[in-house]
Amino acid sequence: MTSSPTSTPRPPSAERRAPFEHALRAAADIAALSPSSHNCQPWGVARPTGRGARRAVERLVDEAPTGGPEAPGGTSGESGTRGGGTDEYVILALDRERALTSLPAHAVEMLVSCGAYLQILLRSLALQGWSTDRIRFVEPPAGGRAGGAHDVGSSLGDTWPVSWSPLCAVRLRRTDRPDGSLAELRRTAMARRTNRAPYRPDAVEPAVLDGLSAPSTGVAEGAGVTVRHLVADSERAAFAGLVARHGGRDFSHRQAWHETYSFVRRDEAEAEARGDGFALSQLFGPLSATRRHALRLALAPTTMNVLRHVGYHRVLARQLARVVRPTPVIVAMGLADALPGVEATVRGGARLAEYWLRATEAGLVLHPVSVVLQHDDVRKELQDRLGLPGRTIFVSRLGRPLTGFPRSPRRIGDRAVYTI
Ligand SMILES: Cc1cc2nc3c(=O)[nH]c(=O)nc-3n(C[C@H](O)[C@H](O)[C@H](O)COP(=O)(O)O)c2cc1C
Repeated sequence: MTSSPTSTPRPPSAERRAPFEHALRAAADIAALSPSSHNCQPWGVARPTGRGARRAVERLVDEAPTGGPEAPGGTSGESGTRGGGTDEYVILALDRERALTSLPAHAVEMLVSCGAYLQILLRSLALQGWSTDRIRFVEPPAGGRAGGAHDVGSSLGDTWPVSWSPLCAVRLRRTDRPDGSLAELRRTAMARRTNRAPYRPDAVEPAVLDGLSAPSTGVAEGAGVTVRHLVADSERAAFAGLVARHGGRDFSHRQAWHETYSFVRRDEAEAEARGDGFALSQLFGPLSATRRHALRLALAPTTMNVLRHVGYHRVLARQLARVVRPTPVIVAMGLADALPGVEATVRGGARLAEYWLRATEAGLVLHPVSVVLQHDDVRKELQDRLGLPGRTIFVSRLGRPLTGFPRSPRRIGDRAVYTI
């Protein structure tokens, strides 16, 4: 779709913008299906419509260095319609109220989750004729933590949500739609889910794995992510050994487990009503009522506090390792820089989303095993043992499912969209 010819009379500005608002809400519905650690959905999207906010975002996007982080096919020149109505903007933010914070490594997981969301959001917009023209990432000040971009937030006006840290601003323009359909993307996004059950033990064909690592598109393009598929018996055994030794860390770390448990819902009805987190069946597969009660009791932070003294966290680690060991492929994704910034990490998350959607289309499922990345000593051991350079940002089981897995709940897509 192209922008309307200049010779035809233009509808009033509000009317001209209505199609974008509609497209954004449709895109947010699909992007809401993105994966996130603990299903915490730490993203927010702001759309500037107020004069001041729009100006501030225009300025922010225009600051992007020439040849900088642009979308493919994007133009860095001035547009005849700049600020006049046909350009639209969105700002992706990290909602600090929804973010996990109990471990420093969660900062990376949050950016990866937001990046996955951004990839699906922008792809959904592109499929409705709104292509990304330019992106400007907001890096925290030197020495600051990711998500500390308060000054940019305050420049966006009083309506900017106080708990949101801007991650990037995106300029979108009406263009021809790329190949593909929104309905197809929605179907794949709905079908994608974390499957924590055992997988078929047979190998995944190398050509299929190559397809998953093929060059990326959208925000993920040029993300600088190295994708490694660990398929050799020795590599998979080394990974399972690491999980057996360290996979209980989350359970034995008081704050981390407290935070994790705050996302565990009593049952699917409660998970659905809250719209985030997971029911036990989404973690362990279908359960009888008795087993569900027993598990809830065993996993409660107060019980775990006592049981960890008798090594219960080690039992749970061995259980996880038993599921990991026969998995045909372990996929690890890494960035070259050992201390990646906001842009690299968000783009890394975008790459993950694309990878996961491709895997879904190929009939494959994933089950991330982030516990080995959440503690620096364990992550370094993993990277050293398996020769993974830079910073590994994601590691997961990959294979063909033996059983389906229930879908986890989501907040309504609209709830993440805010007009400023
Ligand atoms: C960065 C990242 C890390 C994750 N780590 C884990 C993990 O360690 N263990 C796990 O079971 N699921 C993990 N997940 C999967 C999420 O729990 C899952 O995406 C979320 O609960 C939503 O469920 P869904 O993927 O089935 O839609 C991770 C997801 C992301 C994006």
